[in-house]
Amino acid sequence: MSSKQGTYLPPHVLIFPFPAQGHLNSMLNLAQLFCLADFHVTFIVSDFNHSRLLRHSTVPATFSRYPGFQFRTLPDGLPDDHPRAGERVMDITSSVEQVTVPLFKKMMVLENFLASDSRRPVTCFVADGLMSFAADFAQENEIPYIYFRTATASYFWALFCFPQLLQAQQIPFQGKSMDGLVENIPGMEGFLRRRDLPKFYRVDDVNDSILGKVVTVSRQIVRAQAAIFNTCEDLEGLIVAQIQKHVPRVFSIGPIHEQTKTRLTKKNEEASISRTSLWAEDQSCIHWLDTQPPKSVVYVSFGSITLVTREQVLEFWHGLLNSCQRFLWVMRPDMVAGKDGIPKDLIERSKEKGLVVEWAPQEEVLNHPAVGGFLTHSGWNSTLESIAAGVPMVCWPYFGDQMINSRFVSDIWKIGLDIKDTCDRLIIEKAIRDLMEVRKEEFLERAGNMAKLVKKSVSEEGSSYKNLECLIQYIKSLLL
Ligand code: UDX
Repeated sequence: MSSKQGTYLPPHVLIFPFPAQGHLNSMLNLAQLFCLADFHVTFIVSDFNHSRLLRHSTVPATFSRYPGFQFRTLPDGLPDDHPRAGERVMDITSSVEQVTVPLFKKMMVLENFLASDSRRPVTCFVADGLMSFAADFAQENEIPYIYFRTATASYFWALFCFPQLLQAQQIPFQGKSMDGLVENIPGMEGFLRRRDLPKFYRVDDVNDSILGKVVTVSRQIVRAQAAIFNTCEDLEGLIVAQIQKHVPRVFSIGPIHEQTKTRLTKKNEEASISRTSLWAEDQSCIHWLDTQPPKSVVYVSFGSITLVTREQVLEFWHGLLNSCQRFLWVMRPDMVAGKDGIPKDLIERSKEKGLVVEWAPQEEVLNHPAVGGFLTHSGWNSTLESIAAGVPMVCWPYFGDQMINSRFVSDIWKIGLDIKDTCDRLIIEKAIRDLMEVRKEEFLERAGNMAKLVKKSVSEEGSSYKNLECLIQYIKSLLL
């Protein structure tokens, strides 16, 4: 198809992420990868997040290089002062369904699927796997639908296998040992315990509405023409092979943030770290890291959604101080209740060894030579960034996919320790000492090897690189 002037018009990809930091990061990288393939891209973003991206990120500057890229902003339906964190992050799901989706549908019809003289109507719809309306919308409008899940393939697969778990009476747990193995998820036999299953499975009633929702959106994948995962063969090849039995095409193209760097270099564009933060990044921590010895600092961050109690913060604080390691701790202003109540002597003692900031340039931090370990909530972006930087982890998963991610880190890839379901200063102190002192060389070596593998996967000979080529060809084939 061509424009009115008869010039060639490239494919036009419509991307609709769930409006949260962890989802935006990988989907903005995906958008950039499509721009680098000379596709046109429309990216749906909430008004709330758009104004934060304008204020705090380099996203506007990055995408101004690509004339075929456009944002379309829509309200997320929540008041500006809504926390959008902790358990209340689920409110975003319902407000997107009730407010954003009807406006989106109206916009698509009124604007002829975003066609103009210089842009064809959308060629395909890449929707976040949390968007429950996507399969129906794509089918009704005969637009090819590509399912994108920002979390691990393993997490997705554990939810997809809900019917098998139910049939084998694995859920609800009904008081059975949390350390008992779950043998009904193909590819994860022998190491996945009940406590490693997605946290949504910890219910008394299998008809729990939130569990029902996350399973339903996962089963939607069978209606997609293709699926994209931010993972690679070396990390989750066996699980992706299982998923491939249910979808015509599965493209694992991760780590996407590293793939972006490879492709930028290939196009002779500067392969700098993309800054997609919704919070202001405190650069002072980089100067502080510059003054610390190599591999001596534990970076502590629990991502964009985790909420902790004052008691939990105190356990972490004591554990960190007692481990006698240097630390850089990200404490979002909205992360902890009662921050004022933290004893003054703790804050004073921290100044000798640590620095606390509200939000850090995380990828830069993880790649800083002074950083030797990461105390993380095991969000998938954080985990991938740590893996690519060769930084071992202590995992304290909070919800969702994080429970399974931390099991892979500790028991499959063996690049860290998992302290899930505990929050005790002695356990935290021991885990940090093990990571940073006692077993330091062993962890650094394995993490370094894993970093090499995942970086190879996005190099020109690598599987993720080739899979992205196939995805690009597949989208081009939709024009024929
Ligand atoms: C959550 C899930 O846990 C994740 O697995 C899912 O795919 C998306 O939703 P979140 O809890 O925010 O996301 O964690 P994570 O996936 O790790 O994403 C956080 C992002 O924020 C990372 O890319 C990290 O680099 C960035 N970040 C975090 C900063 O840039 N600065 C900080 O100070 C902290």
